[in-house]
Amino acid sequence: MFFTPASLTEGLLNDLSQQGVDFGSQSFMDPACGGAAFLTPIALRMRATLSSKGAGPLKVLKHIERHLHGCDLDNTLCKLSKHFLCMALHSEIQKTGYVPSFNVYKANSLTHLVARLGTVDVVVCNPPYRKMRAVELDLLRDTYADVIAAQPNLYCLFIALCVRLLRVGGRAALVTPTSFLSGQYFGRLRRFLVRNTDVEHIGMVSDRQGVFIDVEQETALTVLRRRTEEDRTQVRANVSVVSGAGQYTSVGECMLPSAGTVWPIPRSVDDVALLNKASLSRFRLSDYGYRVRIGAYVWNRDKRPKFESLQDARRVKAHTAMPLMWSRDIVSGGIVRLEDTSAYDGEHRFVDLGDKEHSSVVASPCVVMQRVTSNDQPRRLVAAAVSPGVFETYGGFVGENHIVIIEAVCDKPTLPPTKLAKLLSAHAVDRYFRCISGSTNVSAFELNQLALPAPQALREGLANGGSMEEAVRLAFGLVSEG
Ligand SMILES: C[S@@+](CC[C@H](N)C(=O)[O-])C[C@H]1O[C@@H](n2cnc3c(N)ncnc32)[C@H](O)[C@@H]1O
Repeated sequence: MFFTPASLTEGLLNDLSQQGVDFGSQSFMDPACGGAAFLTPIALRMRATLSSKGAGPLKVLKHIERHLHGCDLDNTLCKLSKHFLCMALHSEIQKTGYVPSFNVYKANSLTHLVARLGTVDVVVCNPPYRKMRAVELDLLRDTYADVIAAQPNLYCLFIALCVRLLRVGGRAALVTPTSFLSGQYFGRLRRFLVRNTDVEHIGMVSDRQGVFIDVEQETALTVLRRRTEEDRTQVRANVSVVSGAGQYTSVGECMLPSAGTVWPIPRSVDDVALLNKASLSRFRLSDYGYRVRIGAYVWNRDKRPKFESLQDARRVKAHTAMPLMWSRDIVSGGIVRLEDTSAYDGEHRFVDLGDKEHSSVVASPCVVMQRVTSNDQPRRLVAAAVSPGVFETYGGFVGENHIVIIEAVCDKPTLPPTKLAKLLSAHAVDRYFRCISGSTNVSAFELNQLALPAPQALREGLANGGSMEEAVRLAFGLVSEG
């Protein structure tokens, strides 16, 4: 019956009540109402509130008719929504003989709600989620110019629409993936939100199962309050962790920067102290003398000759064959040595690029990371140093597309790769990354914004005989010296 699990709509509607929303007087709208996952429970809450104030069944029905609005691109879903509303209000309809003509209709909300902008008290929405095609964007580019970047996701435009539908002081309650909190192409949306809303509450759903089918994404339940547009450098937001059953547990407050950079959102109570301290650090990977690149070799598209062993490459005189590094070569905190033969049956170890100086070859000291981790892996950052032997033996390597390469930009980076791999494997650094990354993919954009301890303070901590874990905590100011 529902796209959105009932537990989450209940959790979000409870949150709205707590923020002061009145189900007995305010107007509600869902611009992507689907199967009435929001409309029906809102109607039930409207009925409960009005009945408790003594309103009779006819008054209840007429109120809902006037105050509840929904639209969807899909006409069948609109009809279904009306049926569900009738079912929910069956007793009132039966008692009065009055069948309301619910305000649910087929429309493209992104283009057809102009007359409603700035008028609605409460907007609720679990917007559609997918990358938009260039031709769809052509029609919307002018209207949504302030949030569109590159090839946006449909839900990015829907968030902007939901905010614009609100009167000043009105609230939007949204069920979305968490990628808008940190994704590179949501930077303009984040800026738009800081300018136009107070972010009252972000609920991070801890149970990933079953909200977005086929999408390895965390879910955010966000409540925004429309405000008059204003330049601000940052806003504060309350954060909670929400269980799959819709139970909120407060985690604390966080600061959301306005510049379009990632929003660090704590995922647990312990993260709040870490974010407060680590967010103050201005040091990033570039300050350690490293830059981020993604492995260039896409195994299922690349047509160049490839070999399972160096011997095979030599046999056909492939003099410019270079070793390939795969994600599974990387073991957290370890050192990657590439053998002459693949350890895995049928996996290629060498590719003939036709040029040892090819731009895909990594020839500088570096750390490599798994680019895609799974939910059940304890760490998001799985990093290892590349053994100098790889460069001495082969002159470099080629990274498969599922690895991230953090390569030194000079001969003497601030930390050698072995230590950098340990730094990236430190608990506090991994947790910070987790707070700025909403998906299991490790992106270069987010890595470049990873707050790291001051190099000098870290070196001092290590020189005093501390472990990397201790040195990181000390340098971030999470523990006091001595
Ligand atoms: C993720 S579903 C959520 C629906 C509803 N909130 C629920 O949980 O039952 C998103 C809905 O957006 C609708 N939709 C997609 N594009 C739309 C558009 N441009 N205008 C209005 N609705 C749209 C889809 O038909 C789908 O029903």
